[in-house]
Amino acid sequence: MSTDPVRTTVVGERATSAPSALAAIGVAKSYGALSVLADLDFSVGPGEVLAVLGPSGCGKSTLLRVLAGLEPPDRGRVEIGGQPVRGPSPDRPMVVQGATLFPWLSLRANLEWGPKALGNQQSGAIVDELLEATGLSGSADLLPRQLSGGMRQRAAIAQVLANQPPLLLLDEPFGALDAQTRLRMQEWLIGLLAERPTATVLVTHDVEEALLLGHRLLRLSHRPATVLEELALDLPSPRGRSTLSDSRFVQLKADVLARVLDA
Ligand SMILES: Nc1ncnc2c1ncn2[C@@H]1O[C@H](COP(=O)(O)OP(=O)(O)O)[C@@H](O)[C@H]1O
Ligand SMILES: [Mg+2]
Repeated sequence: MSTDPVRTTVVGERATSAPSALAAIGVAKSYGALSVLADLDFSVGPGEVLAVLGPSGCGKSTLLRVLAGLEPPDRGRVEIGGQPVRGPSPDRPMVVQGATLFPWLSLRANLEWGPKALGNQQSGAIVDELLEATGLSGSADLLPRQLSGGMRQRAAIAQVLANQPPLLLLDEPFGALDAQTRLRMQEWLIGLLAERPTATVLVTHDVEEALLLGHRLLRLSHRPATVLEELALDLPSPRGRSTLSDSRFVQLKADVLARVLDA
């Protein structure tokens, strides 16, 4: 296990001026004798994107399932908007690697399914807006299998945003895509979240992805996951492909990568 100190920097206004959208307080989780999460404490401000970076197998997906209320923690608690999480809710949709669209429904019907199930009368208008924002308007009548991998993943994220959730949980959402498609998707998500600020926990094992998308970085240790580092990511915006060659980004990436490799 690493002996890295917890590094905490001043968290941007976003996180300090309003109550947390999400708070994890002393969250611990084991599977039998296997300790996976060890006393995790962190919060996400309204509209803030928290990038959670950790090595494969450290417990990232487990953490998201606990945040989503799909599994209870053994110790500690999760609060959303100050209210304790006691189980799953459509308010906390989770987007996993590999899209989860209904294969027999058109793209439009997939996006309308959630808002309709929640009794939202405005579902048509919300879906039109999201199809436009995701560049998928021309593909609304296609079935998921008729879409490319990148389109399916955009559609899956649009599908959960259609429910206008207060919190978005993303588990390595672009991990299965080729590098170029991934960068386009990352730029697309940055733009989408800028237009529709949504408190987001984005889990990734990729340093570049964490730094490009996150407003703040939470770096986890090997299992059992503990917080090794918390860092405000005050990089020039709007972020995108040009950020990758920004000197501050390049330096930050080298620094974080060095600490990851030393851990
Ligand atoms: N339901 C489960 N039962 C037992 N062990 C599990 C379960 N889910 C995950 N694990 C174990 O917990 C550890 C962390 O898994 P996971 O959260 O998927 O890591 P990550 O997403 O960071 O790759 C792994 O060793 C995995 O085998
Ligand atoms: Mg995982």
